[in-house]
Amino acid sequence: MDRPEHINIVEVGPRDGLQNEAQPLSPPERIELINRLAEAGLTQIEAGAFVSPRWVPQMAGSDEVLLALSSRSDLRLPVLVPNRKGYQTARAAGAREIAVFGAASETFSKRNINCSIDESIERFSEICILALDEGIRIRGYISCVLGCPYEGEVNPGRVAELAARMTAMGCTEISLGDTIGVGTPDKARSLVKACAHETGIERLSVHFHDTYGQALANILACIEIGVTTVDTAVGGLGGCPYATGSAGNVATEDVVYLLDGLGIESGVSLEHLMGITEWLCKRLGHPPASRVARALLARRKQPSAASG
Ligand code: HMG
Ligand code: MG
Repeated sequence: MDRPEHINIVEVGPRDGLQNEAQPLSPPERIELINRLAEAGLTQIEAGAFVSPRWVPQMAGSDEVLLALSSRSDLRLPVLVPNRKGYQTARAAGAREIAVFGAASETFSKRNINCSIDESIERFSEICILALDEGIRIRGYISCVLGCPYEGEVNPGRVAELAARMTAMGCTEISLGDTIGVGTPDKARSLVKACAHETGIERLSVHFHDTYGQALANILACIEIGVTTVDTAVGGLGGCPYATGSAGNVATEDVVYLLDGLGIESGVSLEHLMGITEWLCKRLGHPPASRVARALLARRKQPSAASG
């Protein structure tokens, strides 16, 4: 079996994780969360989104978050930007890495960012020209890669074509988002192969939501064909406000547990993550979606109980 020795985890909890929570976290709490995640060994942490606070109020104050972390040159802190206005405010707050976010489905693109796919590509090209000129790293998301909440099936060829367009405009990493978590391993693998043909597999990251409980199986399938970057969210938080009914992201704890079990290094401490999940879920007022977190936290509360 061909498996990599190391996997890069991109922690999306402070953005994707929190954007869908009923109980918003204040910027100081989000700053604390990011610092704690860094202590756990995470080095790529999505810090916020420069989107309309009317559309996604949970991400208001992303400028405060980024400014407070400006001395953390040890971290990569990408932030979502949908348009020129978002780019300018992100840069004013010191963003050194941005993420543009498109979709493989027209209806989702319209609902999420209020424009067609082609219009979004035009906007992103404009942003990318500015970013490349200023030495800013660009991540490109494609949502709905394995299914759309409005249009159903999505053609992998269409996703691959978008991945090629985003790469050509300067995205150094393409994150393939299974926004509604409908993918299964064979489909995920075929999609990755189709995209890798356009971009090279080293540029691809996989971003699975866990609605149907397939995320870990999908990740393993993708890792086994050469994917080395995986998006996760602490506690399994998350969801997109424009994909109602979808579950959170695959949990960072669950992925680290999987990788530890496979002997694949991620640099992230499961023990540290447990403390963060416990702290975070208390603030958010609900238990973690992560199976690993639930198991380990329950065991912590009953130290004398037998394992298994
Ligand atoms: P719009 O309404 O079409 O924009 O929104 P507009 O240009 O017509 O402007 C309308 C108002 O919004 C104006 O204010 C602008 O200034 C303001 P007004 O004059 O009415 O007071 N505005 C902004 N304010 C702050 N920041 C900005 C900005 N741009 C305009 N950047 C827009 C277009 C994209 C802004 C809007 O649709 C929006 O914010 N959408 C939110 C998108 C979002 O954050 N979705 C969730 C993240 S995507 C996701 O979760 C999927 C992912 O995780 C991958 C996966 O899971 O598959 C990435
Ligand atoms: Mg997402």
